[in-house]
Amino acid sequence: MVNYIVKKGNKYWPSKEMKRIAWVTDSKIYKKAEKNPVKFWEELAKEGIDWRKAWSKTYEEKLPYFKWFKGGKLNFCLNVLDRHIGNGHKTALIWVPEATDERTIKLSYKELFDKVNQFANALKKLGVKKHDTVAIYLPLVPELVISMLACARIGAAHTVVFSAFAPDALQARIIDGESKILITADGYFRRGKKIDMLSNANKAIKGTKVNKIIIVKRLNKKMNYRKPYYSFDKEIEKYPHYCMPETMNSEDILFVLYTSGTTGKPKGIVHDTGGYAVQSYYTAKWNFNLNPDDVMWCTADIGWITGHTYAVYGPLLNGATTLLYEGTPDFPNFDRWFKIIEENNVSIFYTAPTALRMLKKYADGFTDKRKFSKLRILGTVGEPIDEETWNWYFKKIGKSRCPIIDTWWQTETGGTLINALPGIGPFVPTISGRSFPGTRHEIVDDNGKKAKKGNLVQLPPFAPGMLHGVLNNHKKYVETYWKRFKKKYDTSDGAIMINNLFRITGRTDDVMKVAGHRIATAEIENAIDKHKQIIESAVVPVPDEVRGEVPVAFVVLKSDKPSEKLEAEIKKHVDNTVGPIARPSKVYFVQDLPKTRSGKIMRRILKNILKHERPEGLMTLINPDCVEEIKMVVG
Ligand code: PRX
Repeated sequence: MVNYIVKKGNKYWPSKEMKRIAWVTDSKIYKKAEKNPVKFWEELAKEGIDWRKAWSKTYEEKLPYFKWFKGGKLNFCLNVLDRHIGNGHKTALIWVPEATDERTIKLSYKELFDKVNQFANALKKLGVKKHDTVAIYLPLVPELVISMLACARIGAAHTVVFSAFAPDALQARIIDGESKILITADGYFRRGKKIDMLSNANKAIKGTKVNKIIIVKRLNKKMNYRKPYYSFDKEIEKYPHYCMPETMNSEDILFVLYTSGTTGKPKGIVHDTGGYAVQSYYTAKWNFNLNPDDVMWCTADIGWITGHTYAVYGPLLNGATTLLYEGTPDFPNFDRWFKIIEENNVSIFYTAPTALRMLKKYADGFTDKRKFSKLRILGTVGEPIDEETWNWYFKKIGKSRCPIIDTWWQTETGGTLINALPGIGPFVPTISGRSFPGTRHEIVDDNGKKAKKGNLVQLPPFAPGMLHGVLNNHKKYVETYWKRFKKKYDTSDGAIMINNLFRITGRTDDVMKVAGHRIATAEIENAIDKHKQIIESAVVPVPDEVRGEVPVAFVVLKSDKPSEKLEAEIKKHVDNTVGPIARPSKVYFVQDLPKTRSGKIMRRILKNILKHERPEGLMTLINPDCVEEIKMVVG
């Protein structure tokens, strides 16, 4: 079996074979790109993407905004589909359903092209216009990819909402995006159970501008398609296999994706067309040594940025095959993911540390009988990976012959930004690596001075795939990313520099990573505070062996007595307002919450108490007595 890495000292490096096949092997690329990043990206943009009109200005920076490829025109969908149609029989998408007795679906580039074009025609007929926003609330089914690409074809922005979000969360996103059309499904399967999502969608559209709902049949429920409901299948059937792609400006919006910030209200992160195309194409190609004959499996749900860029756009822009799996890793048992990798010849496997910790714990016994002989590259993303999990991944899945590419990035950055490249290395546990060629990051202390440990910032010129604002909220955009370190983009992540490589230590704000999902403590608090029995609450993350972090809630009640029933009710309430991913693992009922004189809740003190550490900063509290009471409650 081919070995793609060699060990030198305590680090892993690309082997001769990897050097032979990798797209990028000469580390001089970093210096070359740094000399003139704008020119570097310009050359890549010309080579990697088909433009309908060349740009007049490659990069324009008027902070806090910046533009890439100004004046350039293109269609994103054309870059994904039309330019691969010469090799149209090639599989674009493999869809593995959760039920093992249901057939895997393979769509060739030609089949995907036909469906996308038909659906693009349908959307137009249903009134969707260039620059409109289409809300998509779908499980992991091929129709999700078809919908995204159809929007891109007609120049409508899509906003995909994670299928496990509750009606309130969906509603807030529909309202903010002003979507008039919603694409959803009659439900989906989870561990063999049927999950209804249509009733969530129906609740969510109340009070929004949505007047048409297109429904994908996944559970085969009997439906009566009367206005405002339309059947995805029936609509698609009506239309021809070609829809002229709209010519879009490079800076036109391709999609909006909502993510959590430090407040309770999610931010609509705006991504444009040209810059995002260039970054998603090249990061997919270079980070994962992606070739058209590869099968790439990015396990992220498409409702998150990782799914957008590396389950859909990146692999398809490169003419490769992307694999989507509908279900969970443990269905019908923990061998499931491994079976999928082997049966489908997956060569690039990209997942999150939380999934790996779960596999390490429950699926270890299944790894020995697997050879994973087609795997070449492993990737990780979403949170820091600990050394033990890294080693398990490396040995048990990579069979000590595949590099692990630890990619640091965010919803805001659109594509990866810090990681080792497979043909250059090194691959070191817990270390992400260097800035992608043509981008620059540094670490600064709280005063903005360069440091070895502290806050991770990005320096100009900002990467082409970076966000282009927060939808309808300029103020939030400025405050979140540009206020603290002025002309440097504030990532809100902590980092340490080790031998000129970045180790990312995690969020420095009130954002948690629960099983890799990004959730603001304030989002959960807002949901809890809506419960009629609650005066106020504070949510803090606690470490969890598998999920990384889980939320724990402290609540102050109005008149009710604490009870298990009330705790269950609060958890359910969070499920119904945000979604089960935000559910607190424990609810503590307390008399009061530690607050400063200005009324700010000191979550840090709650974290100290949970970890049985000595709380710091009691002097600043207006109500220090509550600390002893909280300690008693926590026990
Ligand atoms: O804290 C960082 C963490 O995930 C955050 C971004 O979350 P989200 O927008 O949901 O996007 C996740 C996938 C791109 C970052 O601010 N993060 C992401 N990748 C890594 C990471 N932390 C450590 N190592 C990583 N490789």
